[in-house]
Amino acid sequence: MPYRLHDLFERNRQWAREVEAERPGFFTKLLAQQEPQYLWIGCADSRVPANEILGLLPGDVFVHRNVANVVVHSDLNALSVMQYAIDQLHVRHLIVVGHYGCGGVTAALHDRRVGLADNWLRHVKDVRHKHRAFLDRLPDDARRLAALCELNVLEQSLNACETTVVQDAWSRGQVVVVHGWVYGLHNGLLEDLEMTVRGPGEVAAAYDRALAAIHLRGGASALAAQASAAQAGAAPAAPFSEAPCAALAAPAVRPAPGAA
Ligand code: CO
Repeated sequence: MPYRLHDLFERNRQWAREVEAERPGFFTKLLAQQEPQYLWIGCADSRVPANEILGLLPGDVFVHRNVANVVVHSDLNALSVMQYAIDQLHVRHLIVVGHYGCGGVTAALHDRRVGLADNWLRHVKDVRHKHRAFLDRLPDDARRLAALCELNVLEQSLNACETTVVQDAWSRGQVVVVHGWVYGLHNGLLEDLEMTVRGPGEVAAAYDRALAAIHLRGGASALAAQASAAQAGAAPAAPFSEAPCAALAAPAVRPAPGAA
């Protein structure tokens, strides 16, 4: 087994050559300063890379990732990233991005022990407990998982709004828009959960609106995509019991945003 990972260095050299060929001087310009407009707080899942999904280059997005895209009030790591991005880099958008089929959310939903991360995932279990009545009404585990992935984004977006970092920025009149999005592993598309907040006066209404939409969907949106893909002849989704961490990750075809 190669242990020096030469192949990764070769890929890196190739990538740098291609970027420089397409945009001469790209790296030396970035050397002077970074001016990202976006702060991405997402899941550490290898299938959800911020820059690639957004089609953005180095320098465009400031990134913080952890298991299950959790924003915890006492997490100095996330808070430091937010403070630096907002106070020093003046990012204008803070985007909390979850994804369907999240392994961390799955573990929290089913009380599955994964190790030390159980303690971290307690925060997602808090979300589950808060919305237990709604989740219990859903007809099956796949829909409960999809809904909990959305609810987790909603609650972590709310947490982001309530941090001293964002509150202080708003109180001094700085433009920071908080967003809550969810990503489909099955189709590569982002969806806006409409938890879009520009100031303290908008938090409650945005939360209520986004929550009502989640209740209305009932965890069905990602599943509807799977059903349409199955009808189109794509591989059917793996049964939930066989692939709990990727229950919604089967290939699927969904209409492009704005399509009928
Ligand atoms: Co995840």
